[in-house]
Amino acid sequence: MCGIVGYIGKLQASDVILKGLHKLEYRGYDSCGISLFNENIDDFILYKDKGRVNHLQDDFNYDFENHLGIGHTRWATHGAPNHINSHPHASVSGRFVVVHNGVIDNYKELTAKYLVGYSFESETDTEVIANLIESFASSYDVDIAIRKTLALLEGSYALLVIDTRNPHIIYAGKNKSPMILGKRADGICLASDLMALVGISDEYYLIEDKTFVKAVKDESGYAFEMYDPVGIEFCPVRNEVHLDTEEINKGGFPHYMLKEICEQPSVVRKIISNYAPDGKFIIDKEVLNLFANKKRIYILAAGTSYHAGLLGKVYFEKISGIPTEVFVASEFAYNKPILEKESVFVLISQSGETADLRACLVDIKKLGYQSLTITNVKTSTLAREATKYLEIFAGTEIAVASTKAYVGQVSVLVIIACVLEQDNKCSLLTEMGRLAVAMEAIIDRRDYIKELIKTRLLKRNAFYIGRGIDYFTCLEASLKLKEISYIQTEGFPAGELKHGTIALIEDGVPVIAIITQKHINKNTRSNIQEVKARGAEVIVISMNDIKESDDDIVLMDVHHILSPILAVIPTQLITYYKALDLGRDIDKPRNLAKSVTVE
Ligand code: G6P
Repeated sequence: MCGIVGYIGKLQASDVILKGLHKLEYRGYDSCGISLFNENIDDFILYKDKGRVNHLQDDFNYDFENHLGIGHTRWATHGAPNHINSHPHASVSGRFVVVHNGVIDNYKELTAKYLVGYSFESETDTEVIANLIESFASSYDVDIAIRKTLALLEGSYALLVIDTRNPHIIYAGKNKSPMILGKRADGICLASDLMALVGISDEYYLIEDKTFVKAVKDESGYAFEMYDPVGIEFCPVRNEVHLDTEEINKGGFPHYMLKEICEQPSVVRKIISNYAPDGKFIIDKEVLNLFANKKRIYILAAGTSYHAGLLGKVYFEKISGIPTEVFVASEFAYNKPILEKESVFVLISQSGETADLRACLVDIKKLGYQSLTITNVKTSTLAREATKYLEIFAGTEIAVASTKAYVGQVSVLVIIACVLEQDNKCSLLTEMGRLAVAMEAIIDRRDYIKELIKTRLLKRNAFYIGRGIDYFTCLEASLKLKEISYIQTEGFPAGELKHGTIALIEDGVPVIAIITQKHINKNTRSNIQEVKARGAEVIVISMNDIKESDDDIVLMDVHHILSPILAVIPTQLITYYKALDLGRDIDKPRNLAKSVTVE
């Protein structure tokens, strides 16, 4: 994953880069570093260390003129998160300095072929890149040395390179990992994501795979050059963005996660207003055409988005009547099932950058299939590269744990399924309005959940149980609880627990049961009795029309098919308050990153 930011221009480079790195910390945050041209001493400095961007910002000195630099925030792939493995990495002589996001698959082969006898400081694949450039630079111009290096790299990379002999250029290259270029009259910023450009530039350019870029300062000012893989210069398309700075503030909430949980009713309303502007669900005709005469839908996704996909299958099958299969992207990419010819692929990705999904997309395109990406980021790689995309309008999600994006994905899946329904009988529009109200009601009662979990969730492990669509909510709920609180949690089909896993139930083990569907109410309640009899500490989340007197969290009734969008909210709140109780780093849980751009 990792976040990279480079800047050349009139502003103080350290300000731009550190601010940008803060905004990119969602991509990884185990270590970070920066290299700047210090004009006072006419030389480059390099600071890096294990830890967060705050440490990089507060514990090093930036009290010098600097107008060119590159920075990095890391999610470790090769080598532990420590000082030495942190980026930037310099070549042996120190001449070339590189920051890198991605994974170079053939770095060992390249070392054996081109860098025999080199001694490396770190365990990273990035140091190999810096040294390859240096070794080629002994025989070629720097541009050629970098382009020769890029041509040899297999895998994913977004790279920024500086040649310490020339403090007027930043070089960049990319393949698979994202990178954009922001331009203003007095400077250029290169970064992994648009977020780093907030407050810097509204004008930006997407950098395509295998493009080589130079950001240059010359007598006339600041300019950039982009070259295609064969070295021909081209003019990229200019884009504009107006990022809402409000959206990326905490808005008075102690954590982004809580803010984003509380925003969910308005996400549903925003989706309604975008997809039903005239009182009827509408989807772009070209998107609908992707589904025309298709015998099967394949949904591909990862993590939380995969859980949204499981619900998507229910909606496509139950509402639209189209057989649907759902796959975890990293599995599908290398273990493909037999595919139905007349089918369409739906890729679900909050970030639109997940590398596992991109690998699938490349493959399915080769096989001639059409695809639809459902994403929160319309400028993302998966939005651009799929046949069509649909937005979920959740607004920027900053907490690593996805909440409002999940609700947005599921809501958009419901809408697509309704529009695809042949007889046009699906009338969930008013029901979605009611859903937003029910979501508000449970969010308003969050203090009650905060108190509830203080005495009821006390063990190192926990279970969520449910049947049918409630089981899918259980999967999402358990992922959320484990990733933020580090309590080992499993989501189980309520009826399956007794076939083995019930062996883990003992006194006080929390079992949270989700019951939103009338037709399985009695069955799940029997399973509750089975675990209670073995000492489990049971918490029941149910709907008003099927509640029992001692249920713990009762939700307002909504249409049964929409209940997962409501029932997930108390589970997000359970996660949030438990993690708060345990003193966890809620918005940046350990070992995770929000955008997973490595396979
Ligand atoms: C990471 C995040 C998860 C997310 C998954 C898929 O693992 O930590 O929260 O669900 O990636 O991300 P995507 O952006 O494709 O939805």
